[in-house]
Amino acid sequence: MRINSSDTIRGDFTVPPDKSISHRGFILTGFADTGSVISNVLSADDVKTTYEIMKRLGVQIRGDFEKFEITPGKEPVASALYCGNSGTTTRLVSGLVSGFDGAFSFTGDRSLSRRPMKRIATPLSNMGATFKWKGEAGYLPYTVNGTSTLKGIHFLNEKKSAQVKSAVLLAGLRAEGKTEIIEPVQTRDHTERLLSHMGADIEREGNRITLVPSRTEGIELKIPGDFSSASFFLALGACHANADITIRNVSLNPSRTAFLKILEKMGADVALTDKTDDIEPYGTISIRSSTLHGIDVPGGLIPNMIDEIPLIALLGTFAEGRTQVKDAGELRFKESDRIAMLCSNFRAIGVEIEEREDGFVVEGPQQIRGGKTDSGNDHRMAMLSSLCGVLSDEGVYIKNPECVSISFPDFFSLLDEISG
Ligand code: S3P
Repeated sequence: MRINSSDTIRGDFTVPPDKSISHRGFILTGFADTGSVISNVLSADDVKTTYEIMKRLGVQIRGDFEKFEITPGKEPVASALYCGNSGTTTRLVSGLVSGFDGAFSFTGDRSLSRRPMKRIATPLSNMGATFKWKGEAGYLPYTVNGTSTLKGIHFLNEKKSAQVKSAVLLAGLRAEGKTEIIEPVQTRDHTERLLSHMGADIEREGNRITLVPSRTEGIELKIPGDFSSASFFLALGACHANADITIRNVSLNPSRTAFLKILEKMGADVALTDKTDDIEPYGTISIRSSTLHGIDVPGGLIPNMIDEIPLIALLGTFAEGRTQVKDAGELRFKESDRIAMLCSNFRAIGVEIEEREDGFVVEGPQQIRGGKTDSGNDHRMAMLSSLCGVLSDEGVYIKNPECVSISFPDFFSLLDEISG
């Protein structure tokens, strides 16, 4: 696909529903005591994977992505589960089935099969589940032998991962004895919010989460727009010389929105309005062409904008001075090695960037010449390259752009619409 530059960016729109909350909408309600109604669910490949898996496990799901009615199963039917490209599905569902007797086998695509799984296997094994690796230890494919006699644990979330935390919480729900999780930095808290709403005995005090094994009730949940998807357009709006964008109904969960702080620190002309509190808060974000300056990104904010960090490289390209990201080594274990992919793509389109083990440094402002990039089959890399195309002199080619279907199937048509 080739993306050309555009003179103006104008738009007042919504983005697709939140991916993290959509996964949890199926996984957390699938074995609750009563039924749930979940509306405005993300219709994209990763969430479809979770939907298929929950049906295989015996959950009845009726309706469509506008509104699903979920009739819980009694306990998961032991089965073979294909997780596609989705780390969230793999890790959360592994936590869920750990607490039920039976053998559940997990497989995934090539990218997912390279992603580390010991981070969930270690705590879940300490609770009493058994992981059997089919190939290399610590990677898919594997089988989880769950048990109805799990024990609660005390767990330090060293990887600062919401997926790992959620896996442990899902297992802890059915264990004997309480589970305590210490988070050095708070990660996204959608699981805690939903569990608490469903009646689970869960509390946060400072950096400590305590969960007492609980039964849960179903919920009614309307999912707001995905802040991570919105962020691509926020970055474009800030960098483009003639942009004015408003995005409505975007999730504003504080454990997800550190990228807004980065935009503000870099001098972006961004505003929040219509903030509404709900199980998950949401509101409207507007952004206009901005005069940006480089910053040292505070390491403590990384977990609260883990999927937006590649966009900081783009902001840094248009900002005056040096922008540096460190403490972001986790980016190497996402759908691709995002530090390596980002740096090689930027160089291929004429942007100088210094690759570091745990981040990168960009000196701005630099003009994006254009050239050929590769998504590496990573949706967020494909979307980042597209923004580079709109902001470039000569246009940007993207190899394998179709992977945007993982989180944002209509990304290109929306980009086309707002860039005329
Ligand atoms: C997610 C958590 C993050 C994020 C991923 C979705 C979630 O991963 O990168 O896209 O839904 O819990 P980690 O928690 O492993 O950092």
